[in-house]
This record gives sequence, structure tokens and C-alpha cells, in this order.
Amino acid sequence: MEKIYVVYWSQTGNTQAMAEAIGKGIEAAGREAEVVDVSGASLAELKKAKAFALGCPAMGVEVLEESEMEPFVCDVEGFAAGKTIGLFGAYGWGDGQWMREWVERMNAAGASVLNGEGLMCQEMPDASGLAQCEEFGKQLAQV
Ligand SMILES: Cc1cc2nc3c(=O)[nH]c(=O)nc-3n(C[C@H](O)[C@H](O)[C@H](O)COP(=O)(O)O)c2cc1C
Repeated sequence: MEKIYVVYWSQTGNTQAMAEAIGKGIEAAGREAEVVDVSGASLAELKKAKAFALGCPAMGVEVLEESEMEPFVCDVEGFAAGKTIGLFGAYGWGDGQWMREWVERMNAAGASVLNGEGLMCQEMPDASGLAQCEEFGKQLAQV
């Protein structure tokens, strides 16, 4: 069975902690997870996958990180149709606008967003946030 990729960008480690917990959930569900920083991620592998997860915190003013994640997501939009994509990320003081817009973008590209919404944690995920991430990984593993 194919690996499930969890591709993330993280500056201070919060979204990375979410990504690792999602990977743990995927493996707990019996699938192989590859948790990878966007700088080392392969678009070719994602193109072949039925389901994968993308993570990025709210940056700028309620946008994706602009130098690495935004161009990567633009590329993913080109082949997202028909795929199930789990979106996740940490935020600070906002109300999740970056994530709502990200979900809309992926829907517009023809993807099915896991649960119909992104998974968000305010700053570093606590035990309950990590448990939600693991559950999210289990759901992704069942697609
Ligand atoms: C340059 C910069 C811009 C940010 N912009 C937002 C924002 O628009 N909305 C928000 O809720 N948090 C914002 N944050 C807070 C981060 O999203 C938050 O600290 C998050 O936990 C960082 O995740 P990371 O540890 O994965 O990098 C910003 C942080 C930085 C450094």
C-alpha cells in the first residue's frame, strides 16, 4: 500500500508537532506515513497519491507562508482534483481566516478536504490538540 505523505512548513515547530502527531495516527491505523518538510517534498509523489496532508501556520496577514508553502500549494492545485487532502496548521491571534481560504482554494481545485475543514491548533498543540491530530491521521489513513 502506498505511503501517506504529510508535508508541512513550520517556523517555530508548532505545525511540525501537528504533522508528527498526524503521522503517528496514520501509523496507528496501520499505514506507512512520510512526514516531510516542504523543502524536501516531492510533487511527483503527491501526484500519484490518493490522499495526503498539507500543513502550514497562519503567516503574513492570514495567508500561507509565501516563499515555500504558497508556491508548493499553487503546484498542488494543478493536480488536486479527485484527491482527498487533509489541511492543518497552527495559528496565533487570528480566527482561522487563512485556513478557511485554504480550504476554499482546495475545494475550487476539485479536491475533497478531509472533514470539510482544516485542523487548527492555537500555537503549540496541547495533549488534546495532539490527540485530535492523531485522530486526523487515522481518518486520512482510511481514505
Ligand atoms: C510573520 C508572522 C505572521 C503571522 N501571522 C499570523 C496571522 O495572520 N494570524 C494568526 O493567527 N497567527 C499569525 N502568526 C502566528 C503563527 O501562526 C503562530 O505562532 C503559529 O503557531 C506558528 O506556527 P509554527 O510554529 O508551525 O511556525 C504569525 C506569526 C509570524 C511569525
